[in-house]
Amino acid sequence: MIGALRRWASRHTEQSRYSPVGIAFHWIMAVLILAQLSIGWYASLLPSGGDKLLTYELHSAVGLPILLLAIGRLFWRVIIPGPINDADSAGWQTQAAYLTHYLFYFCFFGLPLSGWIMWSALGEPAPLRLAGFIPWPSLPMYEVSPETQYRLLAVAEESHHILVLLLVLLIPLHIAAALKHHFWDRHDVLRGMLPEVPDWEDPRKGKQHRPREPRLHEQ
Ligand code: HEM
Ligand code: HEM
Repeated sequence: MIGALRRWASRHTEQSRYSPVGIAFHWIMAVLILAQLSIGWYASLLPSGGDKLLTYELHSAVGLPILLLAIGRLFWRVIIPGPINDADSAGWQTQAAYLTHYLFYFCFFGLPLSGWIMWSALGEPAPLRLAGFIPWPSLPMYEVSPETQYRLLAVAEESHHILVLLLVLLIPLHIAAALKHHFWDRHDVLRGMLPEVPDWEDPRKGKQHRPREPRLHEQ
């Protein structure tokens, strides 16, 4: 099974492209993470009350799928190596890119896990629901003493803040690097992370694209 997946993915990775599964993981998670940062910030600015709680419920509903996607993405990344592209010969920049990717994965797990711990230690302010409708259990905080619960809450809250900061620093760096490779170095890195647009042959009879005849005045 894994061998078959690797053979399928190698058709893409051998052409310096991420596989369609890798690309789908990247862009779905990029959108969810950016949404999640905005919802979290918006919630933190609201005064205490019903609206704040509702916004945090939305925040947890979007955050929990990120944890599941992170597990799937890590599994995929372990069995399917990334492509070798032009950026792999860029010396320290390559190392910096790898470090950024590792730190991103750390945030993909650390943020939802610390959020889940916070939610559970707060005495489950509202039931957790994956994507807003699938019931999700709280962690069994009732099994630990109130002091341990309080300490766990403090550590989880601190970790959540630090990881949010880390993301906010890394995302612009990552985007700037991707655009620099594309527009400045003219590397194939960004193209390898974008969906492939196939070159169709026009199926209508006799309509195959032919190079345009030069106009008389161009001859
Ligand atoms: C990738 C996923 C996540 C991101 C990017 C994220 C981001 C944020 C941001 C930007 C804030 C407001 C600023 C801050 O307190 O640092 C926040 C706060 C919070 N988040 Fe998340 N979060 C994620 C996942 C989750 C999940 C899954 C839960 C709950 C199950 C959660 C629960 C909370 C709570 C309770 C707070 C309030 C913390 C406080 O008041 O100190 N988060 N999050
Ligand atoms: C929240 C936003 C984003 C996150 C968290 C993120 C995360 C990642 C991660 C973890 C990888 C490593 C590949 C993998 O394991 O799947 C990656 C690769 C990549 N990302 Fe992003 N990304 C984000 C947004 C963007 C944007 C907006 C762009 C384009 C401007 C971009 C361009 C790329 C490119 C070109 C690669 C391939 C790098 C290489 O192979 O060296 N990313 N991204």
